[in-house]
Amino acid sequence: MDDFYREYILDHYRNPRNRGVIETPDVTYEDSNPLCGDELRIDLLVKDNMVEDVKFSGKGCAISQASASMLTEMIEGKSLDEVKQLGKEDILETLGIPLSPVRVKCALLSLKVLKGGVYGVPDPDEEDL
Ligand code: FES
Repeated sequence: MDDFYREYILDHYRNPRNRGVIETPDVTYEDSNPLCGDELRIDLLVKDNMVEDVKFSGKGCAISQASASMLTEMIEGKSLDEVKQLGKEDILETLGIPLSPVRVKCALLSLKVLKGGVYGVPDPDEEDL
């Protein structure tokens, strides 16, 4: 079973989904993995509280890039509330292979960046106040 997940990770690394930048994003956030200094940026287009488009950019190892690619697929079309509910288990389960603590940081970099971005978005319910 591990082989399947390894292939899946390599496929996302070699053929990343949603790689790039959004010119005028509603949400953009960038952060780094403190252990290696690799940086990742995620841009979102948000419409009616839903993720209409998402792109990621930056550099990092295969695990960080593959998990970012998978995460963008997971959140496209989801509401910001659903995005906020995502936890580290969702990412680690999707990757599907056991990871050392150092690699867990790599795997969770994209989630950390995403959360940094979505928690900076004003609550749409409060916009009219
Ligand atoms: Fe830098 Fe994995 S080694 S993100």
